[in-house]
Amino acid sequence: MIKLHDKYFKPFISEQEISDTVSRMAAEVANDLGDEVPVFIGILNGSFMFVSDFVKKYPKPCEVTFIKLASYEGVKSTEDIQRLIGLTQDLTNRTVVILEDIIDSGNTLHEVHRIFKNENVKQLLIATLFYKPNAYKKDFKLHYVGIEIPNKFIVGYGLDYDGLGRDLPAVYQIKTTQHMTNLVLFGPPGAGKGTQANFLKEKYNLVHISTGDVFRFNMKNGTALGNLAQSYIDKGDLVPDQVTIDMLEAEVEKNADAQGFIFDGFPRNEFQAKALDRIMDSKDSKVNAMIALEVEDEVLVKRLLERGKTSGRKDDSDENIIRNRIAVYYDETAILKDYYSGQDKYFGVDGFGSIEDITGRLCEVIDKL
Ligand code: IMP
Ligand code: MG
Repeated sequence: MIKLHDKYFKPFISEQEISDTVSRMAAEVANDLGDEVPVFIGILNGSFMFVSDFVKKYPKPCEVTFIKLASYEGVKSTEDIQRLIGLTQDLTNRTVVILEDIIDSGNTLHEVHRIFKNENVKQLLIATLFYKPNAYKKDFKLHYVGIEIPNKFIVGYGLDYDGLGRDLPAVYQIKTTQHMTNLVLFGPPGAGKGTQANFLKEKYNLVHISTGDVFRFNMKNGTALGNLAQSYIDKGDLVPDQVTIDMLEAEVEKNADAQGFIFDGFPRNEFQAKALDRIMDSKDSKVNAMIALEVEDEVLVKRLLERGKTSGRKDDSDENIIRNRIAVYYDETAILKDYYSGQDKYFGVDGFGSIEDITGRLCEVIDKL
């Protein structure tokens, strides 16, 4: 993902796909024009990169020139097209091929047609690398179209957002949802995960999704997914991943305007982790980090036994049970640690020390994301 001015953009069309498309277009035009020597006219500024690559791939002799028109302000097309550099060459009886980076509303194209009306060209052909059919309001024929794209703002490969982004070799699409910070929080029993999650959600304005809470809520309120989960639990079976995933996804959807999430108790395995990636992707977002509190076993055992004295939780008073819970945690976490490490998203944070110290260390990681 990249940021230009105030907006975020995500990868959309790769260099390779662009290159293949330009090759295909050059071949199509060459094939149609036979021995004609065309004049390719790029519409500046946006088309400079396309024109450059196009003519390199054009297999026969040709001429190249540019005109400069401007219509866009920020991310909106305007009716008011300005002619900044006009035609400087006699085009009588020539085959002219307009090379446009993108056709959006068609206003610029309208202006192009106006310019060429009195030029007595032999034929005027329009070739555009990108085309937004849902934005196009004119009915001029587009003779060659590279890639049809949805009506969303793009940058890169010549296209800019208020001056920036033209230099990018690939194309990026604007993100429609705001930037989110999504954390997967891990910690062995006794690491203080709950306490830290509470601080972090306040500080970063995140929604804390604790899988345990989500399950209890859905089962208590008898939601369809809650009842489904309950039916497995009643039979003594594990709740299938998909049920858990659907419940978590519903929770994410409930908080559509969230600035991010802290996932706690989810994902538990690689299947769930991949599902979470898909859920975040559908929101134009991603998991930014898996943060794991790291605390030595002996410290955990001591803390939990201490807690057991006052909380009355049975599983906090038996050292064997405690050690087993810690072992289960490391078993489960190992796969996810690998999964997120592989994407450079794993951050181990020293969970030994005062609550404030640990919060400080967590914030250091999050502030750098
Ligand atoms: P139209 O006049 O609305 O068809 O828009 C054509 C011009 O607007 C293009 O040549 C670009 O300069 C600009 N434009 C249209 N859509 C985009 C976009 O998604 N990103 C960047 N520039 C765009
Ligand atoms: Mg343009």
